[in-house]
Amino acid sequence: MTLIGASRVIVALDTTDLERAAAWAAATAPHVALFKLGLEFFLAHGAAGVRAMAGRPIFLDLKLHDIPNTVAGGVRAVLPLAPRMLTIHAAGGAAMIAAARQAADSAGEARPMILAVTVLTSLDAAALASTGVTDAPAVQVLRLARLALSAGADGLVCSPQEVAMLRSALGPDAKLVVPGIRPVGSAAGDQARIMTPAEAVAAGADWIVVGRPITGADDPGAAAAAIDAATR
Ligand code: C5P
Repeated sequence: MTLIGASRVIVALDTTDLERAAAWAAATAPHVALFKLGLEFFLAHGAAGVRAMAGRPIFLDLKLHDIPNTVAGGVRAVLPLAPRMLTIHAAGGAAMIAAARQAADSAGEARPMILAVTVLTSLDAAALASTGVTDAPAVQVLRLARLALSAGADGLVCSPQEVAMLRSALGPDAKLVVPGIRPVGSAAGDQARIMTPAEAVAAGADWIVVGRPITGADDPGAAAAAIDAATR
């Protein structure tokens, strides 16, 4: 797992428009650690789309969740793209998480960090209960977080609401990546629980994921620079 630069900012390039993604990346590159490409971009453009990002450091947010053998195959399939981070669902269980980590290890030193998603933030207590999990969401988040780390994940993607709890429960080594970030004065959009960049870092985030406050700004480069400065 290679080190990532000094910035704590990850920009979410949420678009299926390749040229737009490349332009956002070019504008913000001096101020950010990684570029997050999600399911939408990957299903539209595949490996060729990632390669079109011209060697920029990538976080592939694919949230893999399948039987261990299939997830391991999926991880190996994207290793040639050299993603720096890759997401899986912790709910896939210990064997699946371990298989993902083992597959990532085959890339050696340059392996991607394996980050686990615990409970989707779109699930409230009632929705979670309807899947058979009657514990409070925070209890299930911590249970899956511990499971993921003990099975070989490097860290977690977590909401602003969870980051302080996870940092205090898991200690300094767990990597915590936090979306749902809004700079002071910016629109919340559809994010219900938000933190400012500085608050998220103070609460224990190693990296923050920021989409629209950067990509929707008149000057994405300046917006990224301001958020980078606020988190150093
Ligand atoms: O535009 P915005 O800053 O809200 O983008 C946040 C990014 O983080 C999006 O790519 C979104 O899918 C992702 N994300 C999130 N909330 C989660 C998990 C991921 O907003 N709980």
